[in-house]
Amino acid sequence: MPWCRGVTILAPADALDTLRRQRRRVQVAMLDPWYNRGVGGSRDDYDEFLEALVKAAARIAGHVFLWGFPEIVGAVLPRLPAGISLVAWLTWYFKNCPSVIRGWRSAQMACLHLAGPRARLYPEHFLNDAQLERQRAGKLRYLPGPASVIEAPLNIGFVGRREQTGHPAQKPEAVYEALLKMTTRRGDTVIDPMCGSGTTGAVCRTLGLKAILCDESDRYLTLAERRLGVVRC
Ligand SMILES: C[S@@+](CC[C@H](N)C(=O)[O-])C[C@H]1O[C@@H](n2cnc3c(N)ncnc32)[C@H](O)[C@@H]1O
Repeated sequence: MPWCRGVTILAPADALDTLRRQRRRVQVAMLDPWYNRGVGGSRDDYDEFLEALVKAAARIAGHVFLWGFPEIVGAVLPRLPAGISLVAWLTWYFKNCPSVIRGWRSAQMACLHLAGPRARLYPEHFLNDAQLERQRAGKLRYLPGPASVIEAPLNIGFVGRREQTGHPAQKPEAVYEALLKMTTRRGDTVIDPMCGSGTTGAVCRTLGLKAILCDESDRYLTLAERRLGVVRC
């Protein structure tokens, strides 16, 4: 597989095909499908679709992150395949959604962190210098983990200008960085079969990881190619 500075972009394909074709094990699968509401439309078999995605991802990855609106993505929990379970219900919290609907303004998305029994976590990657020093001296009595609510603004307007690609559901790099810091070490591999603008690839570059990216949309893969300076296989 031709890596370009750690990132491989595959030709457009359905996410299930990408996952089922992957032969080598990877540390993490990032699954950020359309949400069955709003942009991307809806499908009647959404729960079955998520179930199949998680099953295919769990076959090749130790950790699986599944994104969605809380009340929709939670339906997958009773459908998890054997050998994978919920590690944490994560929330991305943002205050700057410009929604003009009458009533509550959306300020959160859910991300289910699922993993197999042997998948490792690295909370030590979140220690600051003082904590690392205390750990080295054997004086850190407990390992403080990061909060399961990750606060980062939506990349919109002047916020996150540097990251913005024009993809309608692009996630901030800061959010993915927390997920991947917890679950990977340098040199590990992450697969994202619905990569949109390539946020997973950008964060993999920052953290020294390898990324395998795909999307069913030729247009979005072109955005990812431009963002990452990679031409697809
Ligand atoms: C929420 S967006 C992902 C955004 C991405 N995480 C980012 O930060 O740019 C969902 C993406 O899934 C892709 N997608 C939806 N259904 C798919 C499928 N069955 N197979 C592959 N890609 C799919 C869409 O084209 C879209 O780019």
